Amino acid sequence: MVRIAVIPGDGIGPEVLTEALPILEWVRSLGRETEWALFPHGAAHYLSTGETLSTETFIHLRDNFDSILFGAVGDARVPDGRHAEDILLRLRKELLLRVNYRPCSPMLDKHVPLKGISAADIHMEIFRENTEGPYCLQGETTEQGATDFSIHTEIAISCLLRAAFQRAESLRVPLTLAHKANVLKYGHGLWMRVFREMQPAFPGVQSNAMHADALLCALVQRPVDFGVIAADNFIGDLISDLLAAFQGGMGLAASANLAVADDPTLMGNPFRCSGLFEPVHGSAPDIAGQGIANPAGSILSVALLFRHLGWSEAAQAVEGSVKQALEEGAATADLGGVLSTREMGRALRAGLY
Ligand code: NAD
Ligand code: IPM
Ligand code: MN
Repeated sequence: MVRIAVIPGDGIGPEVLTEALPILEWVRSLGRETEWALFPHGAAHYLSTGETLSTETFIHLRDNFDSILFGAVGDARVPDGRHAEDILLRLRKELLLRVNYRPCSPMLDKHVPLKGISAADIHMEIFRENTEGPYCLQGETTEQGATDFSIHTEIAISCLLRAAFQRAESLRVPLTLAHKANVLKYGHGLWMRVFREMQPAFPGVQSNAMHADALLCALVQRPVDFGVIAADNFIGDLISDLLAAFQGGMGLAASANLAVADDPTLMGNPFRCSGLFEPVHGSAPDIAGQGIANPAGSILSVALLFRHLGWSEAAQAVEGSVKQALEEGAATADLGGVLSTREMGRALRAGLY
């Protein structure tokens, strides 16, 4: 029995996740035994109970569930984003979900905003380091003022880059490391060293390092040239939303936060919970509560969950159903259409039944 924890969170998180949940019911019809449990964690829960994510809940998620399906966090009533840090960033970091995997394969030509580029031209995947950099959540305040730390460790970099090299090798596509080692001598100098040391182990992979600023320009001008893109946590976050735009916008982009099998920190004892699946977008306070958010990113994240579980036929069916609905013109406001979140959810799932 596969057990999935569902954390809808804030803003449009619950709205889009509601449209993804019927797919967890549908997959049982393929003989895939699964059950899911709903968790209330988010801004409202924090404001009413004082709990962001207790240690008890964290351990429950870690030890009693195989994966987490997540909506979004972020709420103006918690201006310091404390609950988002304690829930999402902590789960990524403490579950050792080293890889934030964010694929970008646009489904329709009209979704691609780049002149002269069609959907079939673009197949990219971001491998974003997911636990460190400025996201290490460490800092201190002294009489002189506050200091914020950014951390890069060889273990995290090696885990991320090995996964990225392996993926580029199996897809037979180029691997590009986004970095700023020209100025960030220590942190990104370490990334460059690990990258150079790993290159000989993957002779079949055409691998290059590019300055991240120049890479962003090249991604817009010649996206066809890129395959797997590896980046640290912060740069990977920025590239994520650029690549969401290539797919047609924030409403369509899906992501997976994944543990790596050979993570030395786990010393051969992996946690039961090895993945967290979520749309790339956030809680979208500007449209929350209106019932107009696009649930496609959330639904496509369920496809990534199924692929992680080895249920590739289910993943393909979900992706196929989404693509078919988009081709037939199903669209929420972000895609220029008039469908509500619920209507869009129904349309995106229609091909499954
Ligand atoms: P956002 O991704 O929430 O929204 C950016 C823009 O995209 C907005 O105009 C929004 O309306 C639009 N958009 C996003 N998702 C959409 C969807 N499914 N359908 C249609 N339109 C959609 O980013 P933001 O506005 O910078 O951040 C809002 C809050 O979300 C902040 O608190 C931020 O910290 C948080 N956030 C959370 C996550 C996460 O939980 N993984 C990710 C990003 C941002
Ligand atoms: C994302 C988001 C998060 C991040 C925020 C909500 C902490 O932007 O998942 O990309 O910066 O990682
Ligand atoms: Mn982001």
